[in-house]
Amino acid sequence: MTAGAPSSVTVRAPSSTANMGPGFDVFGLALGAFHDTVTVAKARGRGRAGRITIAGGGGVPTAASRNTAGLAVRHIARRFGIGSGLEILIRKGVPAGFGMGSSAASAAAAAVAMNELFGLGMDDNGLVGSAGAGERASAGSAHYDNVAASVLGGFVIVRTDPLDVVKVRAPPGLLTCVVAIPDVEVPEKKTMVSRGAIPARVPLGDSVANLANASSLVAGFLKRDPRLIGSSIRDAIAEPARRGAIPGFDAVKRGAARAGALGVAISGAGPSVIAFCDPGADHGRIAGAMRRGFRSAGAGSRTVVCRPSGGAAVTGRG
Ligand code: HSE
Repeated sequence: MTAGAPSSVTVRAPSSTANMGPGFDVFGLALGAFHDTVTVAKARGRGRAGRITIAGGGGVPTAASRNTAGLAVRHIARRFGIGSGLEILIRKGVPAGFGMGSSAASAAAAAVAMNELFGLGMDDNGLVGSAGAGERASAGSAHYDNVAASVLGGFVIVRTDPLDVVKVRAPPGLLTCVVAIPDVEVPEKKTMVSRGAIPARVPLGDSVANLANASSLVAGFLKRDPRLIGSSIRDAIAEPARRGAIPGFDAVKRGAARAGALGVAISGAGPSVIAFCDPGADHGRIAGAMRRGFRSAGAGSRTVVCRPSGGAAVTGRG
């Protein structure tokens, strides 16, 4: 039954890496490593008006106020005065709590599904803003770097006040990434905890260093120069505050660089570490060096080799 308005829409959204070194809360890159798939359906039956129900299994929170997709859907329903009951089905593919934009992928897919289901005509900033409202569930505050990448794909630059996202294409042949995901316990509300470690005030010299590297990283994408991108992945602000919470971080970073990575960073709020590499590099060697780095600190890990990807896409209408 797709001839008229759909009664359900399914959207698949990619994982992402945020910050990319110097761009805390500003840079995001969609990664085809993992995907979440979210279906939003209009609930049938009386007495369902205004209710949002969530299913998904695998520990996905089922209260709309604690679920990133639920928050995004609720935000959009309120904004557009949508009174019908809504059912959300979440199929998680992005590992939760490891800095791969898991909460963002669900929120991004849910926002795009709502836009399609009700023909809302939201533009890029509207979609990203709505999906970002969902990030409150995991980070304690809205941040838009992961959701912008998941919604729009490619490399994104986020300005927040007012929200304005710049999308830069990242052709699949430009970079290959190796992500090492450690087998460690992550605290509940990990992103909130990890954000709390970052100092509220930073020395001017660190701010200048990050600004220079962030600017050259953007130039690297515009010039399609993987070496310039890699050499710009340096962070004087968040990484020094967060690296102590990642067992073996220095060894992972050093190992990846020696094995040929162009740049290495904490992926988002961690604990995964991401190496940005030339597509022709020996990715198996880089991945092995990263796993050994974690092992040197007593942590197991798995590695994923992936590329920048497109954004959220509708995969079904019911
Ligand atoms: N910019 C956010 C942070 C990303 O670093 O806290 C979280 O994935």
